[in-house]
Amino acid sequence: MKEPKGEKEVKERIKKLRSEIARLRELYHVKNAPTITDDVYDSLTKELNALIVQFPEFADPNAPENRVGGKPLEKFEKVRHSAPMLSIGNVFSKEELFAWEKRNLKLLPVGSRPEYFCELKLDGLAVSLIYEKGNLVRGATRGDGLVGENITENLKMINTVPLKLRTPFPARIEVRGEALMKKNVLEELNRQNEKKGLPLFANSRNVAAGSLRQLDPTLAGKRRLDFFAYDVVSVEGAEWLEKIATHSGKHQILENLGFAVEEHTKKASDLDSVFSFVEKISEKRDGLAFNIDGVVVNIDDTKMAQSLGVAGKDPRGLIAYKFPAEKATTRVKNILINVGRTGALTPLAIFEPTLVSGSTVSKATLHNMDQIEKLDVRIGDTVVIEKAGDVIPKVVETLVKLRTGKEKKFKMPEACPVCGGGIEKRAKGSEVGSLTSAYYCANPKCPAKNERYLEHFVSAFEIYELGPKILRRFKDQGFISDAADIFVLKKEDIAVLPRFGEKSAENIINEINAKKRVALWRFLWALGILHVGEETARDLAGGFGTIEKITNAEREELNAMENIGSAVSESIYRFFRDKNNLRFIEKLFKNGVTVEKEEKKKAGKFTGLTFVLTGTMESMGRDEAKAKIIALGGKVSGSVSKNTSYVVAGDEAGSKLDNAKKLGVKVLNEQEFLKMLS
Ligand code: IVH
Repeated sequence: MKEPKGEKEVKERIKKLRSEIARLRELYHVKNAPTITDDVYDSLTKELNALIVQFPEFADPNAPENRVGGKPLEKFEKVRHSAPMLSIGNVFSKEELFAWEKRNLKLLPVGSRPEYFCELKLDGLAVSLIYEKGNLVRGATRGDGLVGENITENLKMINTVPLKLRTPFPARIEVRGEALMKKNVLEELNRQNEKKGLPLFANSRNVAAGSLRQLDPTLAGKRRLDFFAYDVVSVEGAEWLEKIATHSGKHQILENLGFAVEEHTKKASDLDSVFSFVEKISEKRDGLAFNIDGVVVNIDDTKMAQSLGVAGKDPRGLIAYKFPAEKATTRVKNILINVGRTGALTPLAIFEPTLVSGSTVSKATLHNMDQIEKLDVRIGDTVVIEKAGDVIPKVVETLVKLRTGKEKKFKMPEACPVCGGGIEKRAKGSEVGSLTSAYYCANPKCPAKNERYLEHFVSAFEIYELGPKILRRFKDQGFISDAADIFVLKKEDIAVLPRFGEKSAENIINEINAKKRVALWRFLWALGILHVGEETARDLAGGFGTIEKITNAEREELNAMENIGSAVSESIYRFFRDKNNLRFIEKLFKNGVTVEKEEKKKAGKFTGLTFVLTGTMESMGRDEAKAKIIALGGKVSGSVSKNTSYVVAGDEAGSKLDNAKKLGVKVLNEQEFLKMLS
């Protein structure tokens, strides 16, 4: 993240970041507010730490980022931990993991070869349990790391917290582990809440924390939490136990004593094998019964780990390999306008490049003015961006608390930024009276429209050889002025252009010729009729069968079509009454384009069903799945709504799957989908 320029700005930014971090911590640790995600917190802390490294004069040991956990609540008895409950440092890449080892090797005796024990980083809340003579006598939260809350009665309601230990047990032992709520328990809870009209919980950790930090143990019991043990901190009265020399050994003892110990662990002799465990877990992550946010890598030899000591609040002997954040914070450097092929002016946020879900994001569409107003996003704002399972990044929130007062509100320009032409406001989308409106460049000859239109046209025709750069060059050369010219391009003309050759020219021409014969729906889609996307084009093609019939269709005929509302039918009708458009279609035909007749749609077994595809399937790609659904009479849509019949969720399904669950839409896994197809 780029740092603000002057000292003064840096100081102000640090102050703002600290107060926002303190607020998030308070919400998270004290109020158990469900809106806070670790990712946002981590992202801001990372920015702050980077600033402190650069400007050490602003370091402050009592600043909120240097505190562990939260203030204990007032209502529970406060208990002091026998040894502080610390936190764990994070790494996000293989390089950082190796750097951690390198730092440690410098501190260890020459020739040391640490071995590692890997376990899951469970996303719940840390809990300490003390047993005397085998009986649970005290259970506490982490609190601020030194002082926690006595929540023994609530913890007793968790089935996987043993009330008595199995023999042989030591006279006194303190066990630490994670209390959490399994994913299916949260889903069930949310289903019930939905029925009762209660708010839904955003994440299982907050519900788990909330359930354990309220005063009624029966409520805690109803929440069906789980507990996994991962550490033994102190023992008395058992010589044999005190001698456990490894972290993996501790896990074994915990199991023997009757604790649930999470089973995905690995003893690794080096970091390469640690890393392959991380990769394996990252693949399995979605399928696990509970949420995790990474892998904890422990130096297995307890003495060696302890000898390294603590850096700040993180023991050096273990590290958390965190999975890529699905949310991050960044700053909006600018908001630009993109002119689409329909002339729609779409605001585009330009960010400080930021890593989200493993790739760098530097811009995201803000869709329209309504969205900008809803998010209240201004130039200079710090925003939360998200990529979830989907590839397209989006802005989900503005952190208004981080404003300096210098942020600038975005205003739609009064003229098209490309051609300077006039701008008009029109309803957007196909619904009449639809609430969202968009701004359009009114100039039919706007070059931006033309260029975007060419790109759209070739993609609808599947002429993959003609990417945007090549199209622009052909246009600059004067080889093409409109899309119809593509079909009379000459190999000789192309071959002489710098960086082209005989071979690539031939490839281009061959592909164009191969795509001259085109399905009716593709042809309609390629025309770029306002409001006619891929789906509507398919509907029209299925309903009318030939381009002639569509060209001559009356308003009423178009309107009578299922799925086509009046704004859409009006737009289609007008399109085919425009002389320029008809001339263009004629030119396409003259240049060799032929349109296949569309078979009248026969009813198939998917007729009337709408599918949404998300994630990746093993047996087929998305295009193939789509073609199969359509061949059986079904429809494929890009977004989940209450009209969706099924969401087909492959691996690493993203927000669409979440939406399906929220809306109660039926979800099919790959196997179920294949069965339906056959
Ligand atoms: S060991 C020095 N092991 O992560 C701290 N912690 O970021 C020793 N956590 O407070 C903790 N899974 O709530 C450990 N397998 C695991 C864990 C784990 C989750 C949590 C724990 C801790 C936090 C630190």
